[in-house]
Formats: sequence, C-alpha cells, structure tokens
Amino acid sequence: MLGRLNHVAIAVRDAEKAARIYGAAFDAEISAAVPLPEHGVITVFVTLPNTKIEFIQPLGDNSPIAKFVERNADGGIHHICYDVPDIIATRDKLIKDGARVLGDGAPKIGAHGKPVLFFHPKDFSGALVEIEQA
Ligand code: CO
Repeated sequence: MLGRLNHVAIAVRDAEKAARIYGAAFDAEISAAVPLPEHGVITVFVTLPNTKIEFIQPLGDNSPIAKFVERNADGGIHHICYDVPDIIATRDKLIKDGARVLGDGAPKIGAHGKPVLFFHPKDFSGALVEIEQA
C-alpha cells in the first residue's frame, strides 16, 4: 500500500545553495545540511505543508548520484519517496512482482532515521522510487 508522498528529491552540485534559493524565492523552511556517508549524499530538506523537497549532493568518491549530477549539471529530479506501512512486506511484494531493488535489498537508515529502499527506475515508468517505513 502506498502512503503519503514523503519527498521529491532533486540532485544538485550544492544542496545548501539550492535550498537557499527555495528559501529566498518561496520563504520556505529549510533544514541544516546532513551528511549521509552510507548513502553517499549530503541532504538538505525544504519543508512544505504536505511534503518535502530533498536536495541531495554527492558525498565521497563512490556517490551513487555522482554520474547523475555530472549528466545534469544544473540539477534534476532524482527520485520520489513514498511512505509505506511495512517496508519489508512492500519490498517482498514488489520483488515478487518483478521489480528490481537496488543494493543488497536490505533497508538502510535514511535521512529521517527510518529504513529506506530504492527500486529501479526502469520498473517504475522511468522514475527512481524510494520507499520509507512510515
Ligand atoms: Co530520498
């Protein structure tokens, strides 16, 4: 079951700069920058009443978003994150249906301190999908 839209992620070279632009343009509330070495990104969140925008920038030599940011030098929408009530049940259902989970399939702790998983964009209409335990 799909829950709420948790966030839309935009990959950029400088997440704080990108968030500041939103802050200035829309008077939006922006978070501090949080490095997530396990995910190879630095995140900055912009809080909206109904969801969040997650700006991510590459962190470290093997960042999974390094190539994306190289190809999209001005930034670009990188993934969409949905809340799910049971991340393991959702993972198992999607895999059974033929979707490809990224990495080893074990949830990692995401930017909100909750388990997350990613699914291949080719299995979801060209958009990388992140699911987060609600
Ligand atoms: Co995300």
